[in-house]
Amino acid sequence: MIGVKLCAVYYSRSGSTKEIAESFSDSIGAELFKLEDKKPLKSISGLYALLGLGSPLKEPLPDIGSFEFLVLLTPIYAWHPSPQMNTFVNNADLKGKSVFLVGVGAGETNEKALKRFSAKAEKAGAKVVGTKNFKGLQIKQDLKEVKSNLIESGKQLAGIIERLVQQTW
Ligand SMILES: Cc1cc2nc3c(=O)[nH]c(=O)nc-3n(C[C@H](O)[C@H](O)[C@H](O)COP(=O)(O)O)c2cc1C
Repeated sequence: MIGVKLCAVYYSRSGSTKEIAESFSDSIGAELFKLEDKKPLKSISGLYALLGLGSPLKEPLPDIGSFEFLVLLTPIYAWHPSPQMNTFVNNADLKGKSVFLVGVGAGETNEKALKRFSAKAEKAGAKVVGTKNFKGLQIKQDLKEVKSNLIESGKQLAGIIERLVQQTW
């Protein structure tokens, strides 16, 4: 247990962000919330992401009112955070909360996407305390091939967050 009210919120379609989020929350002992599409969006997610739009989620959205620190994890689509995460950020009350933003993409880095994600979170009133990109699934790659790397990424994230909490709180 760490000395701050911490939770993680993620969206995942093909499962790689989910693996990282679950490994992270198991390692650090944080509550984990999942965002789910109201209806499957399939291939238009990329276009919605590119346009900075949101997409409908199953309700109710995670009740994050009692948490002071949130780790938000999203796949990267077309150099942007997912529309599903956009909807969460725009609708959850993030005012005054600290957030650490995680992008999961096919690429090694996703600087532009993380900058865009940070700008959205800041606009919603959150304080961005850090960002990190992890490698997820390549096109047509099977989740089984990279599962152990994803679990390792979740543990690495837990280490980063633990150090941050020790320094900040
Ligand atoms: C429509 C679409 C657009 C994508 N665009 C990017 C991108 O701009 N940068 C990147 O690194 N990965 C990109 N990806 C790859 C996904 O981010 C990657 O496979 C991620 O691990 C998927 O997360 P998930 O398994 O949790 O759904 C894209 C994937 C799709 C389907």
